[in-house]
Amino acid sequence: MWAEATHPFTIRRYERLASTNDTARALVAEGVPRGTVVWALSQSAGRGRQGRSWVSPPGNLYASVILRPRVPVPRLTELGFLAALSIADALDSVPGVRSRAELKWPNDVLLEGRKVAGILPEAMIAADVSHAVILGIGINLSEAPSDTPYPATSLAASGAAGVTPERMLDALLLPALARWLARWEAEGFEPARRAWMGRAYGLGRNGRVRSGEGWLEGRLTALDQDGALLVETAAGPRRITAGEVAFGPAQGDGADSAAPPDAPAAAHP
Ligand code: BTN
Repeated sequence: MWAEATHPFTIRRYERLASTNDTARALVAEGVPRGTVVWALSQSAGRGRQGRSWVSPPGNLYASVILRPRVPVPRLTELGFLAALSIADALDSVPGVRSRAELKWPNDVLLEGRKVAGILPEAMIAADVSHAVILGIGINLSEAPSDTPYPATSLAASGAAGVTPERMLDALLLPALARWLARWEAEGFEPARRAWMGRAYGLGRNGRVRSGEGWLEGRLTALDQDGALLVETAAGPRRITAGEVAFGPAQGDGADSAAPPDAPAAAHP
C-alpha cells in the first residue's frame, strides 16, 4: 500500500504560524542547519507567488524546507523545479488518485488540470556560495478554495481522501525531495528538466505569459537548460525567466488554471 521511505530532513512541527516561510527565514538567520523543515498545521498569513495570499486551513500541508545548495545564484531557480517534481512523485504514489500530476511553469502542480499545490521559493543570498533557499510548499490535501480566479482542487477531490499532512510530508514528499536533490547533485539539472518536460501542462499549446515585459501570447515550446520557458510568439521566440502562465480567455473568468493579468491579490489554493 504505502511505500515506507526515509529522508535526511529534520521536521519542526508547529500548530499555527503566520507563514512557514517567514519562520524558516528567521531560523536561517539564527543559523539553523540545512535540511530543517518548518511544518505548520495551519497558517494565518500564508503567502503565495505574485504577492497573493495562500489560504491555509487545517487539513492541508504547509511546509518550508531550508536548503543550502552550494551553487551560483542563477542555478538556485532549479530548486523550485525539483520541489515541483517531488510533489508530483508524491501525489502519484498515493493509492486512488485519479490522474497523473502535471506541472505548469514555473512551479505549479496540477491534478486533472486544476492547481493542487504551489511552491514559493525564496533565496537568502550570501556574498560567497553559502546561500540559503527556502522552498515553501503548500499542498491541498483535504480542501481547496472555491474563490480563486482559476480552477483549484485537492487530493481528496481527485480521488484520494484521508492523506494526512504528516503522512504526505514525512513519508512521501520529503523522501521524494531527497531523491531529486541527490540526483541533481550527482547529475545536474538535465534529468529534472527532462522529467519536468514529461509532466508539463500546456507545452505545445498557445498561452499567455506574464513576464517583465507584461503579458505576451504564443505557443509554449520547452523548458530550457536554465529553467526558462521558451515561447514562440508572432514577433519571434522569447525566453521567459520569471512570471506566470495563463491559458484561455484574458478577462479573469477563471477559464483555465492560471491567474489572469488582472487577478486580485486574493485567496489562492
Ligand atoms: C503559489 O502561489 O503557488 C505558492 C504557494 C506557496 C504556499 C506555501 S504554504 C507553505 C509556505 N508558507 C507560505 O507562506 N507559503 C508557502
